[in-house]
Amino acid sequence: AEAAQAAVAAFARGEPVLIHDAADREGETDIVYPAGSVTPEAVARMRNDAGGLVCVALSDAVAEALALPFMQTVLDHPTSADHDLAYDERSSFSLTVNHRDTFTGITDADRSLTITELARLAADPDPDTFADAFRSPGHVHLLRAAPDLLADREGHTELGIALAAAADQPPAVVVCEMLDDGTGGALSPAEAQAYAAEEDLVYVEGRAIVAALA
Ligand code: 5RP
Ligand code: CA
Ligand code: ZN
Repeated sequence: AEAAQAAVAAFARGEPVLIHDAADREGETDIVYPAGSVTPEAVARMRNDAGGLVCVALSDAVAEALALPFMQTVLDHPTSADHDLAYDERSSFSLTVNHRDTFTGITDADRSLTITELARLAADPDPDTFADAFRSPGHVHLLRAAPDLLADREGHTELGIALAAAADQPPAVVVCEMLDDGTGGALSPAEAQAYAAEEDLVYVEGRAIVAALA
C-alpha cells in the first residue's frame, strides 16, 4: 500500500515509476511515465536503461473518442486470425503513430514530441485534431486500456492508466519494458529494485496498485 501511494505521489510530480506486473503474468518490470512529462532525455533513458518497446497507453474513453481500434481487429491477415498469448487473453496494441511535425519519428526529440502531444490530446480528445496532428503508421505504439481498467485486465496498460487517474494526470502513460543486457530476458525484480534505488525511483508491484486503486 505504501509503494502504491508513493507511486501515485511520484506520478503527480511527473516522475516515472517502475511497475512489475506479476510473476504469473508477463513477469516484466516496465518503466512508466505520465506521457505529459516525457522529454527527449526520458526517451533516451527508456531505450538505454529499459530497452523494450516504447508505447503510449490511453484510457478506453480516450481511445473511443479518437476511434482507436485494437490492431488485431484492423489487420486482415492470417497472422492476426488467432491472437493466442500465453499470459493474457489479448494484447492492448492499437495503431502506431507519429506527430506530423516529426521527421523520421524515431529520434529522441521526435518520439518525445509524439508522446507529449498525445498527452495533450488525451486531456481533450478530438478525432479531427487527432487526424490533423498525427500520421499512422508511426514509431510510437498506442495501447488501448480495458474499459473497466483493473477489474478487466491487470496489464501494465491498465496499471499505468489507473495510476494516472489517481494522480490527476491525463489518461496517457508511456510504458517500456526493462530488459537484462546480460541475459536478454526480462530484468529480474531484484535488478529492477536495485535500479530503482540507484535512480531514486519508486518500484511497485502490480498487486499493490490493484489493492490500493481497484
Ligand atoms: C508492449 C507490451 C508491454 O507488456 C506493455 O507493458 C503493455 O502490455 P500489457 O498491458 O499487456 O502489460 O507488450 O510493449
Ligand atoms: Ca511485454
Ligand atoms: Zn506489460
